[in-house]
Amino acid sequence: MAVGQKLRHVVESQQFSRDLLEEVFRRADEMRAEPHRAAGRLQGRVLAALFYEPSTRTRLSFESAMLRLGGRTMGTDNAREFSSAAKGETLEDTIRIVSGYSDVIVLRHNEEGAARRAAAVSDVPVINAGDGKGQHPTQALLDVYTIRDEIGRLDGIQVAMVGDLANGRTARSLAYLLSKFRDVTVWFVAPPQVAMRDDIKAHLDEHGVRWREEPDLHAVLPQVDVVYQTRIQKERFDDAATYEAVKGVYRMGAPEMALLGRRAILMHPLPRVDEIDPAIDSDPRAAYFRQARNGVQIRMALLDMVLS
Ligand code: CP
Repeated sequence: MAVGQKLRHVVESQQFSRDLLEEVFRRADEMRAEPHRAAGRLQGRVLAALFYEPSTRTRLSFESAMLRLGGRTMGTDNAREFSSAAKGETLEDTIRIVSGYSDVIVLRHNEEGAARRAAAVSDVPVINAGDGKGQHPTQALLDVYTIRDEIGRLDGIQVAMVGDLANGRTARSLAYLLSKFRDVTVWFVAPPQVAMRDDIKAHLDEHGVRWREEPDLHAVLPQVDVVYQTRIQKERFDDAATYEAVKGVYRMGAPEMALLGRRAILMHPLPRVDEIDPAIDSDPRAAYFRQARNGVQIRMALLDMVLS
């Protein structure tokens, strides 16, 4: 997918080599340190945001990134209802049309694999902004950027992924990216009904990443550098009984923060429901709002790379 440091479509985390990750981080650092130098770089370019599922952070941080680079944005929210998908148009036809109106397409879709299908027919770069239970690679990029920023390294880290790991596209994409680094350990802390899927475990095995399933969150907390808490995704469950059985099993509050290391951080891709107590938001180790803010610089870097 990537040729040298040239990037076209952003479909999945696996496409990023370590060198390419360093290039994204370098550009994001630049965007943060000297935002005025990037202003106007994408003047005259148009971003189309096609969102078939709800979003606050991904949609608005991509728009903010494009506007800060001097480009313009257009798009449709709730595209399942308000685009011609409602009349039966295929995703492929929609992408063929929108790629004639824009220079880059940011796509969030309810179906796993949608971004890959879109990239196959698009004349312009397609960026996967989340495809069903599949992946959310730009979230994972901002996640590893945040870990690098907050912990100071990515090699040798221990990460606990907590919550809905079977349906969690952010956790899946993050696991793929962590496999690019050395001496990484991942703990999966999830109810068995939403355990991490086998494809990710096999990928970690292939890449020499240690992983362990551990149901006792309290036992894991003192050992890790990062807790990556996730929401139990009600919208992904076919039956209410399973959702009711797993919701609220793992919560981060004051007792859990007391077990977490002094230099460790608590992350969450957000939105949250009840899995992080707002009372701990002021704890300096609560990194989730800083994490969300990093989305702008990472998405500026990506837009700059795919449109340069
Ligand atoms: N983290 C994330 O993807 O948030 P949104 O659903 O608000 O875009």
